[in-house]
Amino acid sequence: MRVLSGIQPSGRLHLGNYFGAIRQYLELQEKGNECFYFVANLHALTSTRDKEELEKATLHVATGYLALGIDPERSVFFLQSDVPQVTELTWILNCLCPVSMMEKGTSYKDKVAKGLPANMGLFDYPVLQAADILIYNSEVVPVGADQKQHLEMTRDLAIKFNMAYGETFTIPEPYIIPEMAVVPGIDGQKMSKSYNNTIEIFQSDSSTKKRCSQIVTDSTPLDAPKDPEKCTVFALLKLLAEPAEVEEIAQKYRSGGYGYGQAKARLAELINEKFAPAREKYIQLEKDKDFVRDVLREGGRKARQVAEETITRVRNACGILTNR
Ligand code: ADP
Ligand code: TRP
Repeated sequence: MRVLSGIQPSGRLHLGNYFGAIRQYLELQEKGNECFYFVANLHALTSTRDKEELEKATLHVATGYLALGIDPERSVFFLQSDVPQVTELTWILNCLCPVSMMEKGTSYKDKVAKGLPANMGLFDYPVLQAADILIYNSEVVPVGADQKQHLEMTRDLAIKFNMAYGETFTIPEPYIIPEMAVVPGIDGQKMSKSYNNTIEIFQSDSSTKKRCSQIVTDSTPLDAPKDPEKCTVFALLKLLAEPAEVEEIAQKYRSGGYGYGQAKARLAELINEKFAPAREKYIQLEKDKDFVRDVLREGGRKARQVAEETITRVRNACGILTNR
């Protein structure tokens, strides 16, 4: 199966990114699929004007993917901006995308409500995402639940194009694991860079511990029984602990005498254990920036090959003459 996904370099990678998306990227890679994974730096330009910050975040996400296990020998791994065919396809899709479809975009509406300037890039964000997906003939797109609407728009645009110009695009399917679909942040809302409630993957053990201690809980006293299903710490523990330990902790919550502090400390331990190898790898890769750039260059070359085939078919299908 052809798998594709991307993450915007708009900040540092966090547990929501890992459990909602990257974990599934790795699983699909292990199963021997033909995976295309990229850093969506053109998307990030919709919400930042800081050149240094964008460059830094782009390399952070690229290094993070590699440290977590994206294997450039098995997956095509690249930067969105190394494939100019994607922006050409965006324009072509724009020309058959109803304005009303973009006006229904919840992500756009949320971002504008939060004060981001309503530029055309932000409005058109889902069409660029559709182009990312369709240009590689992607069949499966692993993402968190917040991306579901973007996948629906992509499918709509592909169907519209196929109806207007003949069968050209594969219709992709989202790949969303219900238990990982919405990972909560330290305030109990969806974990997100823009809510400032994340637990970062690449930080020190002590910062992880500190961040876990900041998870908001209710004021049930230590001795009293607690409902694990209403607790953010427990929701995160469920993602990290073995099932037997999850059950044991749930019992402790229910029987009382077990404090949130203890649960938070165990959570931090589990996070630090899980990500220790990736953190070490990250430090190594950071010292070898040329390696990361070489990997991205080679990935970009492979991605462009596929993209060029698709854009040629698309141009032919819709009557765009070229003389190259
Ligand atoms: P953020 O909301 O922090 O800006 P992104 O939009 O860059 O995160 O998300 C990158 C990927 O990680 C997407 O596939 C998204 O669905 C997934 N993701 C992000 N946050 C979460 C979360 N809290 N729960 C599940 N998946 C998430
Ligand atoms: N919009 C996605 C996010 O915020 C990032 C993204 C861009 C993406 N293009 C994509 C995800 C294509 C999947 C497929 O996380």
